[in-house]
Amino acid sequence: MRKPIIAGNWKMYKTAKESSDFVKQLQEKLKNVQDREIVVCPVSLAIPAVVDALQFSNIQVGAQDGHWENEGAFTGNVSPSMLKEVGVKYIVLGHSERRQYDGETDERVNRKLKNVLKNGLRAIVCVGETLQEREAGKMEQVLETQLTGCFTDIGLGDLTSIVIAYEPVWAIGTGKNATPEQANEVHLFIRKFIEKKYNVEAAQAIRIQYGGSVKPENIKQLMGQPDIDGALVGGASLKTDSFCAIVQF
Ligand code: 13P
Repeated sequence: MRKPIIAGNWKMYKTAKESSDFVKQLQEKLKNVQDREIVVCPVSLAIPAVVDALQFSNIQVGAQDGHWENEGAFTGNVSPSMLKEVGVKYIVLGHSERRQYDGETDERVNRKLKNVLKNGLRAIVCVGETLQEREAGKMEQVLETQLTGCFTDIGLGDLTSIVIAYEPVWAIGTGKNATPEQANEVHLFIRKFIEKKYNVEAAQAIRIQYGGSVKPENIKQLMGQPDIDGALVGGASLKTDSFCAIVQF
């Protein structure tokens, strides 16, 4: 049985103060939730304040990226070991916004993933096609390339520390979500990839989140699909009411 995982990706929203105020409210409303994992991913600057506000909480803290090295001359970056020291449990890798604006590649995601795992942290690895790729009939090819690149030399034993997020780029921040059936079809394709590369048990065990315009209005139908195990939520994770409704779908 795969435990549902709902994560809020706050992107470059909320200052440290706003973030810690926000999670105090969240914590109050979600403190009795036991049957699903809840993760919030603030900007890295806000992480210490959020971890502090969430002591003894059932809400875990994630980061939005983490470098492939633990230290070095990499101006502007933060490493998984540094994030771990301040209490981070999950690191999001390969988000389409990083691919689009920050030169993220599958090869880099793969190197980052190895370092996240080396540090004993968990990763949320994002994949997804653009509208152009989907319309050109290249969706499966694009996902296969992304997955192959991201999972190069990742061992079977590491899969328990990895969550995959399927985020169709055309559904992010657009209000246009994939239909539950459309999303499930892709999740099944991703699960088959894991089955081919690893084995059927690993494919059945790995959790695959859907991301892209998830809202309180569509979460139930999405989570009702057999291969959707959670959500990576952007806009709707920034308000307590909508995020709590999504977590408690
Ligand atoms: P929205 O929920 O705002 O579409 O963003 C999705 C996303 O990018 C989560 O990582």
